[in-house]
Amino acid sequence: MASNKNLLILPGDGIGPEVMREVRRVVDWMDKRRAVTFDIDEDLVGGSAIDKHGVPLADETMDKAMEADAVLLGAVGGPQWDNLDFSIKPERGLLRLRKEMELFANLRPALCFDALVDASSLKPELIAGLDIMIVRELTGGVYFGEPRGIEDIGNGERRGINTQVYTTSEIRRVTEVAFDLARKRDSRVCSVEKANVMEAGLLWREEVTKMHGEGFDDIELSHMYADNCSMQLVRAPKQFDVILTDNLFGDMLSDTAAMLTGSLGMLPSASLGATDETGRRKAMYEPVHGSAPDIAGENKANPLATLLSFAMTLRYSFDMGDEADLIENGVNKVLASGKRTGDIMADGCEIVSTEGMGDALLRAL
Ligand code: NAI
Ligand code: MG
Repeated sequence: MASNKNLLILPGDGIGPEVMREVRRVVDWMDKRRAVTFDIDEDLVGGSAIDKHGVPLADETMDKAMEADAVLLGAVGGPQWDNLDFSIKPERGLLRLRKEMELFANLRPALCFDALVDASSLKPELIAGLDIMIVRELTGGVYFGEPRGIEDIGNGERRGINTQVYTTSEIRRVTEVAFDLARKRDSRVCSVEKANVMEAGLLWREEVTKMHGEGFDDIELSHMYADNCSMQLVRAPKQFDVILTDNLFGDMLSDTAAMLTGSLGMLPSASLGATDETGRRKAMYEPVHGSAPDIAGENKANPLATLLSFAMTLRYSFDMGDEADLIENGVNKVLASGKRTGDIMADGCEIVSTEGMGDALLRAL
């Protein structure tokens, strides 16, 4: 088994360091029991970096992130930094990482753990066994397109402008990620846009279709309009395997899909960039939740979203699918045994602390 995986850990603020501590325990376990050595560096991001360096991400930390095989981030932000100037807010640390690493593909799994089927707002039979992966384009589209702004157009009227822009290369690189992923899953990709009313969507559909014919025709490709997709996600979500979509639609569809399965404390994510000459793909992994200042420091936070983000790190950056399976199966077992942090508490279950959840996972491993 390959060793010396270079991992940069950025715990961040609030519950970030608490949930990351549980990841470190799993890393130690792997070191001892699976003979995998990680080369780990830990550094500051967000408010904790502002307190030390005056900026939410030091240049030196940025350099380390560019060099690392993968970055694992906790969460940033908190009320003590809310009044800072926009340019040095904690979130800017995150944005800088995403921008400079050019993380153009955001992976958001929506996975239903058996023990949590009742936590969904949908009927259990609709979501039991659900396993969707949403691939959202992250660095293009209407959030970044030019022209943009608010302008006076006379007569006391103003106009707000954003522009949906996609180039073929932007579409192709994220499509490739989706097709590659589908090959490791159920080999189905549903590409989502509004080609009926948007030219950028029309180009999207043309380009995805073209790429499909260029070496990906083992994948079952379908196309769907975004409004229909949002309906299908709550009507019959299990019809999907990989959903490929743009930045705007992906923002909404990934949140909808996530909530089918329950709590923020359970949701991991990955953001991927380009592959370099050595075959290494820039990547950052993080839970979907924030720094949860309301429960920070109380040993109450659910560490599973971060532990599942670490499992994604193993799967997608380190080619350690077996170890990723181990962690995911371990999480399933822990939940089945009735252990719950407060955010996923249910009748008849046993409430455990952040650390208690880590203990239970280690036992399951
Ligand atoms: P949040 O995700 O931090 O919390 C929302 C609610 O969910 C809170 O009641 C919190 O206690 C609960 N929660 C979140 N994660 C949990 C976990 N692992 N276990 C148990 N309960 C959990 O979002 P909120 O409150 O909007 O933002 C708080 C701070 O986090 C703000 O400063 C915000 O800017 C920042 N933030 C950072 C993000 C990031 O680092 N990626 C993402 C979202 C918010
Ligand atoms: Mg969102």
